[in-house]
Amino acid sequence: MKLLITGGAGFIGSNFIHYMLAEHPDIQIVNFDALTYAGNLENLGPVERNPHYTFVKGDITVEADVTAVFKAHVMDAVVHFAAESHVDRSLHLGPEAFIRTNILGTQRLLDAVRAHRVRRFVHVSTDEVYGSLESEGRFMETSPIQPNNPYAATKAGSDFMVRAAHRSHGLDAVITRCSNNFGPYQFPEKLIPLMIANALENKPLPVYGDGRQVRDWIYVRDHCRGIDCVLRQGKAGEVYNIGGMHDVPNLEVVRLILKLLDKPSSLIQHVTDRPGHDRRYAIDSTKIETELGWRRQFDFETALKVTVDWYLQNRAWWERIRSGEYQKYYAAMYGNR
Ligand code: NAD
Ligand code: DAU
Repeated sequence: MKLLITGGAGFIGSNFIHYMLAEHPDIQIVNFDALTYAGNLENLGPVERNPHYTFVKGDITVEADVTAVFKAHVMDAVVHFAAESHVDRSLHLGPEAFIRTNILGTQRLLDAVRAHRVRRFVHVSTDEVYGSLESEGRFMETSPIQPNNPYAATKAGSDFMVRAAHRSHGLDAVITRCSNNFGPYQFPEKLIPLMIANALENKPLPVYGDGRQVRDWIYVRDHCRGIDCVLRQGKAGEVYNIGGMHDVPNLEVVRLILKLLDKPSSLIQHVTDRPGHDRRYAIDSTKIETELGWRRQFDFETALKVTVDWYLQNRAWWERIRSGEYQKYYAAMYGNR
């Protein structure tokens, strides 16, 4: 199988490339990535000389870049990760980049997939498109689409464009909607790596509002296995939720990180809440479990320990990120909170 992976230099995309190369020796992967602030070729250092792997720098919003990669490589399927992915950036820096990459970029890929007769398109989406839950219930694939922040709205927009390509043009497209991932190579703007890095540097841990917002945490490798299942066995036109079945308040996650690092809870600092902050996410994964046989394999506490160890052993990776442009981002995002 020859796969085009978009956004493969980011967190989940790079984990997916490592997973696929290890699990499927017959695979050929082309990683198409614009290398934005979130794209990092260091994430792919271990495979850069692998003959089954090729990197192509390109932007999914630029028609010429997209056409060139599809002309140069005959693909069986596209797995589409590339996105602007951070909610806080969409709120504080504005939605324009999100609209361009997440909606326009997705449409450009859909057009190219049709024009080049690629067999299958897997769109990697998110539970955020469903909005927020009250204290009970879980998101089903049939739950209403009610995004509450610009990032989520653009992901919902991209889901609708994928649905439209399937319904109008018969494109073989499938959508996955996953909950909050964590694991190696996650950019330290997201909750878990940010808290690990700050704790290791004895800096305050900025918890938004009361810290009782609930997220459903999944180890990135379980998400990657889910995407692989959907790629191979998912039914065209369908949506598959993927969740970790571990929905807990943010404060509990932060306290566990402090415990694993043997750091004091006095590092926790409550800061001004995120505007429109979704209160609770929880995924019902029954469909992918019963129809495709996927099951979560990693329990939260074990996977969190593995993740904390990874950030301890790969200090140079995140210190390099945090020493550059990131400092301006951090000052703008957290300075006056
Ligand atoms: P990330 O921000 O770590 O990586 C995004 C990657 O996309 C980067 O390598 C970046 O360079 C690339 N990219 C951005 N704009 C591009 C463009 N215009 N052209 C080509 N490449 C571009 O993101 P992530 O956390 O790995 O998320 C990957 C996907 O999974 C996203 O679509 C996201 O919505 C979805 N998702 C993420 C989570 C999560 O918890 N992180 C959960 C569910 C779904
Ligand atoms: O649910 C899936 C989504 O998970 C993905 O679609 C997004 O791409 C991904 O970024 C993530 O979105 P969240 O907004 O849930 O993740 P984040 O790590 O930014 O925040 C997790 C929770 O922690 C959220 O309730 C906000 C809170 N938080 C976050 C940061 C960065 C804090 O309290 N303090 C922080 O400094």
